[in-house]
Amino acid sequence: MKPSHKLLFVLCPMMVLGFIYYSSGKLHLHVWGQKPQLEADIALTMGGIVGSVYDKEGFLLKLDGQLPAELAYKYSNLSEGVCKPGYAAAKMTTIYPKFMKPAPMFLDRNFKRLAKVRNYLPPFGFKTQERIIDSILTATKNYGLGEDLDSLGCKRCIIVGNGGILANKSLGSRIDDYDVVVRLNEAPVTGFGKDVGTKTTMRITYPEGAIQKPERYEKDSLFVFSAFKPLDFKWLRQMVFKEKLSLLKREDLEIESEAGRREEARKVSEGKSERGTEGFWKSVAHYVPREPTEMRILNPYFIQEAAFQFIGLPLNNGLMGKGNIPTLGTVAITMALHNCDEVVVAGFGYDMNTPHAPLHYYETVKMSAIKESWTHNISKEKEFLRKLVKANIITDLTNGI
Ligand SMILES: *[C@@H]1O[C@H](CO)[C@@H](O)[C@H](O)[C@H]1NC(C)=O
Ligand SMILES: *[C@@H]1O[C@H](CO)[C@@H](O)[C@H](O)[C@H]1NC(C)=O
Ligand SMILES: *[C@@H]1O[C@H](CO)[C@@H](O)[C@H](O)[C@H]1NC(C)=O
Repeated sequence: MKPSHKLLFVLCPMMVLGFIYYSSGKLHLHVWGQKPQLEADIALTMGGIVGSVYDKEGFLLKLDGQLPAELAYKYSNLSEGVCKPGYAAAKMTTIYPKFMKPAPMFLDRNFKRLAKVRNYLPPFGFKTQERIIDSILTATKNYGLGEDLDSLGCKRCIIVGNGGILANKSLGSRIDDYDVVVRLNEAPVTGFGKDVGTKTTMRITYPEGAIQKPERYEKDSLFVFSAFKPLDFKWLRQMVFKEKLSLLKREDLEIESEAGRREEARKVSEGKSERGTEGFWKSVAHYVPREPTEMRILNPYFIQEAAFQFIGLPLNNGLMGKGNIPTLGTVAITMALHNCDEVVVAGFGYDMNTPHAPLHYYETVKMSAIKESWTHNISKEKEFLRKLVKANIITDLTNGI
């Protein structure tokens, strides 16, 4: 046996003992001091005999892909591969009892009634942006996926991430088979059809991530806007009304988030800031070749729920702060859990053990280029996504999560 193995041999039991000792101290605290967030630790050590069987985010500690009896019965007559109505939300509720399914995909004219988002500033809500949203929604006139998809009795959705893991897997035709194909930001389809498919039901994007070359927008897809800062809504209004981009206004910069300011300060110091796009952390599209009727605003609830409930990122008084913004991919999955009967993903996950593998399927930037992010918490986010995969709530076609 190597010396290092011997050391492990000794260390492991010590760590287990230490953990039990440590947790029993916490148990004491729990009994006498009412600290509910310690429940997960207790359940871990006590094997669920005492305390909660849920972790501190509220997910069942013991996850498996099995169907509870009532669901197994409900789907017992469906043949293999047939869409299971209500599956994602029902399975989610079994591992996360707090899950409340109704949450509209997009904002509609009644958006001010959405209690969970109206008191939060972007990105967790729309407070201060009501008037601008009203004017945008008056122009878009449509607030759903379109008649055909909205009337489907059972929808199967796929969220296509941008990961290099999609390259050379020939998943294109499988991806195109889904009723709803969700793509993110500028990830291209042309030239990559064999691996990523050609169908795009919607493309969810924020200003800095939007496709910049008008000819690269695919036809028949919805332009779905996800706001991360107040200034983003102003950009969207200019895209909807086809106005000339003019965002450089003192007042916009003043309401800018701390995160945006820091990013911008960094860009300026690196000489990468572009005139006319101050307040954005990289250059943004100046024109989106979409009719207003093909544009939608993603319900900001999905950002809020993913951040504070599912992943457990710091609340920071409900404001954008260090490491409390979920990535767009996880926001899209959260949206799908509420609005699709089955949810599948592909192209998600980074494998840090292969630094020379491509980060995205469409460019040669290497995995090693990924830097510690100020806004996201990739590792905490991955813990959440792993729970979904483990419980079979989502299927990961590329096994990167
Ligand atoms: C499955 O089919 C059988 C026979 O047609 C029927 O009696 C039963 O109610 C069905 N079960 C469900 C859950 O629909
Ligand atoms: C995919 O295949 C092409 C052509 O064989 C090759 O050049 C490329 O490196 C491959 N990409 C990955 C990520 O394996
Ligand atoms: C991510 O979360 C972990 C655990 O809460 C924390 O220790 C870490 O500092 C966070 N990272 C970032 C970038 O906020």
